[in-house]
Amino acid sequence: MTDDPITTDVLVIGSGIAGLAAALSAARDGDDVTLATKATRPEGASSWWAQGGIAISRDTPEEFKEDIMAASDGTADPDAVDVLVENANAAVEDVLLETLDVAFDQNGSSHDFTREAAHSEDRILHVDASTGKHIHVPFLNYLDDHDGVEILDDTAALELIRHEGRVHGAMLESDGAVDPYFAGSVVLATGGIGDLYPRTTNPDNTTGDGIGMAALAGAEVEDMEYVQFHPTACTLDGEIAFLVSEAVRGEGGLLRNGDGERFMPDYHADAELAPRDVVARAVKAEREATGEVTLDVSPLDFTEEFPNLADRCAEHGIDPDGGIPVAPAEHFLCGGISVDDRGRTTLDRLYAVGECSRTGVHGANRLASTSLLEGLVWGLRAGEDAAGAEADPIEAPELLERDPDLPERFARDKFQRLTRVMDENVGVERDPAELQRAMAVLRRLKGEVDAYVRTRTSRSLYELRHASVTALLIARHAAENEESVGTHNLVGANEDPPESTAD
Ligand code: SIN
Repeated sequence: MTDDPITTDVLVIGSGIAGLAAALSAARDGDDVTLATKATRPEGASSWWAQGGIAISRDTPEEFKEDIMAASDGTADPDAVDVLVENANAAVEDVLLETLDVAFDQNGSSHDFTREAAHSEDRILHVDASTGKHIHVPFLNYLDDHDGVEILDDTAALELIRHEGRVHGAMLESDGAVDPYFAGSVVLATGGIGDLYPRTTNPDNTTGDGIGMAALAGAEVEDMEYVQFHPTACTLDGEIAFLVSEAVRGEGGLLRNGDGERFMPDYHADAELAPRDVVARAVKAEREATGEVTLDVSPLDFTEEFPNLADRCAEHGIDPDGGIPVAPAEHFLCGGISVDDRGRTTLDRLYAVGECSRTGVHGANRLASTSLLEGLVWGLRAGEDAAGAEADPIEAPELLERDPDLPERFARDKFQRLTRVMDENVGVERDPAELQRAMAVLRRLKGEVDAYVRTRTSRSLYELRHASVTALLIARHAAENEESVGTHNLVGANEDPPESTAD
């Protein structure tokens, strides 16, 4: 430990929209903010990849709320949903329009609103189908220029520093060196869990760090079994090439099986615009029965309406007129670190925002284009609440003298074992017996990783540690939940076709 401890008022870990919003609002309150991120700029954060857009309340917040509740199969927390829909428009106006001047697509003199699955009206602000980058890049630039915010790039959090129920900071690693950073408050904004599955729409290195660190420090986590799979990831030779936004189905795209037949009307009254979990299961089933599923974009002017997706097709040698081959891929974790309406976790001075948190807004299945919004709204609220506390340096964990190196093969082999078991046993459909087997494998794996952690501090080892803790939590929560609902679907569950959610 250095003689003078490194201190900051608010330490934000992660650089997606939720972390940036938390940093902004804490800095607006006059606090010194340090934002540590391991994500390469700008495309390392999931927010950069968000396609569809950001939903807001149109006529009334109640209609938006009804759609969120219906998409979640009634499992979302109504009070949390109220916080989201009632604060949506003001947050978008303040940060995205006034502060960052994001140029959302226009329709004449007003904004162009699009629709995605399970929305009953057009309420999604977007920029083409590449909304995330048009928000993320100006947001990073804005904070780069902000006097109150210091951004530490290529910096990973290894552990939280905790004493008697209060979180005092985190051990940060950069270029192999590990240092304790003490903070009045710590805000976890570490994003998703894509690296736990072999096929994901997330960027690389989404290893569940925040969830792993928080759980190891004793924070409560909830709803971990609710892993959302996006139904239409463009798939070539079994590998995910790129996400095809739900907005394409919102504008008229149709799903066809290997026999060329449109199948979604057989699965749900809302057909292609059914909730995401329903479509993902249908696409999986039709791929297994008929060999492939394609997204037929002939009902719309694809190139005109989705130029960036047309470019992605061209890069991969796909002629969209022949249909885009699609499959489900891990997309979003609806559960995570339990937080209240200000992002407060069950540990004192620890906050969590964005995908690593569980606000209750998504329940068992998230409505499209609500993730940027949740990150923005909760990021602002948590940052404001986190501000104003002073750092209290205490003795940091004994990580500093350990060997920073990890045999490369160890991390690679263990990650392969982890993703295989998650894919085979904790995927779109789950079998109770297989969940028990998955837990046994993951417990063993975590034990092997823990043994290494006693002597080493490499970033990849800690990523593996966080991933194995997070994977075990997902498998355990899935095994404990005997009810098939939303994204948690037990094999053989008797599914009655749900009611239409659209008008
Ligand atoms: C999409 O554009 O389909 C993804 C939007 C989302 O995940 O909310």
